[in-house]
Amino acid sequence: MKTLLEVTGLAKDFDGTQVLKGVHLTVYEGEMVAIMGRSGSGKSTLLYGISGMDKPTSGSVSLFDREITSLDDDQMSELRLRHMGFVFQHAYLLHKLSVMDNIVLPGFKAGALSRDDVNQRGKALMEKTGISSVAAHDPGKVSGGQLQRAAICRALINDPDILFADEPTGALNSRATQEIMDIFNRINREGTTVVLVTHDAKVAARADRIIFLVDGLIQDELALGKHEADEQAQAAREKKIFEWLEHQGF
Ligand SMILES: Nc1ncnc2c1ncn2[C@@H]1O[C@H](COP(=O)(O)OP(=O)(O)OP(=O)(O)O)[C@@H](O)[C@H]1O
Ligand SMILES: [Mg+2]
Repeated sequence: MKTLLEVTGLAKDFDGTQVLKGVHLTVYEGEMVAIMGRSGSGKSTLLYGISGMDKPTSGSVSLFDREITSLDDDQMSELRLRHMGFVFQHAYLLHKLSVMDNIVLPGFKAGALSRDDVNQRGKALMEKTGISSVAAHDPGKVSGGQLQRAAICRALINDPDILFADEPTGALNSRATQEIMDIFNRINREGTTVVLVTHDAKVAARADRIIFLVDGLIQDELALGKHEADEQAQAAREKKIFEWLEHQGF
């Protein structure tokens, strides 16, 4: 397995308090990794640190064999735009633009494809995630699940190598959550590496591996193997996770 992301001794302080205390983590190409842990354990801080959204206090983050902690803002923006996708709990789409325009905007910005090709790709992504019918709508007038699908399409418009997500289903009901996770699993099967933060064991059950963070350090990890669309297998994975989480004191 090829290493995509190598995190060594990652530390982050806020106002003199150490929030990340020297995290070591390797993510392999094609993996889907879930980060779990109590509120305040540093999950979001870790995600922002490993994705270059935030500069760590110390430590190293190597992504695609490039040390990203030493890149300047322009180099980092460039890398983010072309190689990484981000999804958050809330979609933050621009309200003056249609759903479709929001999705294709980062594609135009990257400039790797013609506008026609970007539009084609945007349409294909909307088709795949089931939101073609709301392409022309204002983001304020679609459902939470549709909005999150749009955010995923936007994150995928430049065909990123890795997708980072912080509680991507945190604002959704259980049905929309499962639908969104079906999309994540599909994207992952098609080759995009995924690292996501979640509180939800059902969501984590979609990942190949779960890491558990306690006070800014990885306390343990659970390897599950690739997810299959099979209810019984999903239930068995969830059971395993609940037992493991209990063992973690979650
Ligand atoms: N920008 C910041 N300035 C100061 N303190 C911060 C900042 N961001 C995070 N923290 C602190 O770092 C700690 C970890 O925060 P973080 O957001 O990473 O936790 P989390 O595990 O994602 O929690 P949650 O599950 O609630 O989202 C918390 O104590 C938080 O208050
Ligand atoms: Mg968080």
